[in-house]
Amino acid sequence: MSSLRSFDAFRQFFGGEVDHQFHVDNVVDSTLLINLDLMINMPCKFIHTNVQDNTDDRFLASELLKYEGFRFFIPPSYKLNDHNSIETPDLDEIMAEGIVAQFQDRGDSKDSIAPACHIYGTIPVNKVSGDLHFTAKGYGYRDFDRTRLGVEQLNFTHIINEFSFGEFYPYIHNPLDATAQVTEENLQSYEYYLNVVPTLYKKLGVEIKTNQYSVSLQKKLYSWENRGVPGIFLKYDFDPINLVVEDKRISFFNFIIRLATIYGGIIVTARWGYKLLDKTLILLFGKKFASRGEEKLAGLLDDNEDERK
Ligand SMILES: *[C@@H]1O[C@H](CO)[C@@H](O)[C@H](O)[C@H]1NC(C)=O
Repeated sequence: MSSLRSFDAFRQFFGGEVDHQFHVDNVVDSTLLINLDLMINMPCKFIHTNVQDNTDDRFLASELLKYEGFRFFIPPSYKLNDHNSIETPDLDEIMAEGIVAQFQDRGDSKDSIAPACHIYGTIPVNKVSGDLHFTAKGYGYRDFDRTRLGVEQLNFTHIINEFSFGEFYPYIHNPLDATAQVTEENLQSYEYYLNVVPTLYKKLGVEIKTNQYSVSLQKKLYSWENRGVPGIFLKYDFDPINLVVEDKRISFFNFIIRLATIYGGIIVTARWGYKLLDKTLILLFGKKFASRGEEKLAGLLDDNEDERK
């Protein structure tokens, strides 16, 4: 079973101090959200988006996503052409970063003239294996009328700002977040294989339910003759097992310091970070922590002292 490999990856990651246990996933979540935010170096009007899973529900994800014309660029901090390393956040990171948010619909309209296309939003999918794909019009599985769009117009160079499952936690780093792929070839395909492990993080009574995933990428080149389908394919599969990561040993005081430090950092990120520049978020906790942040670290610790008096 391929999922065993991903367990190993997760197991390696969590060091000695934190308990991690695997449980059979007996919670029937029939649907779950995919949160995505990416940019493809092709005009929006060329792009065809689709989700297909093994319940054979095929629907046009494009109706649920937002498309806006953009000028393509790769932010300097992005990881270029590299998906070899799996990064899974640790418990403390998740605890600090597990702030739920929603994508805000900015009401952008399709700008089909701009050279690149920014695509973002959430789509509900069945919790079974499936495939989300971005292909070019005229280059689909059933659609072989390649005269509409010249081969030289295809460019599947892309960046991924966000790709996650379940609740949208903008501060949690997922393996595909902040990655980029550049190709010099027109008939290029990128197949991402994602193995999703529902993971519950627990600490001091706080529980954060996430869906961690590991990813591998296969790149393929097609030629005009072999009629393969160029595009970006995200193939996901859910492991029938839950991972529970729990830490009972840290003191409450350390926990508060840790939170204060990290929330202090979040305020800066919220103002200057690329992710937030690019997508507007409604932070459910935002206002409270935003004003906390102004008071800096001292603010939180002072509150603590007040309680003791
Ligand atoms: C696609 O766009 C990237 C970024 O602008 C560029 O480096 C690359 O050469 C282009 N590829 C093709 C096939 O035109």
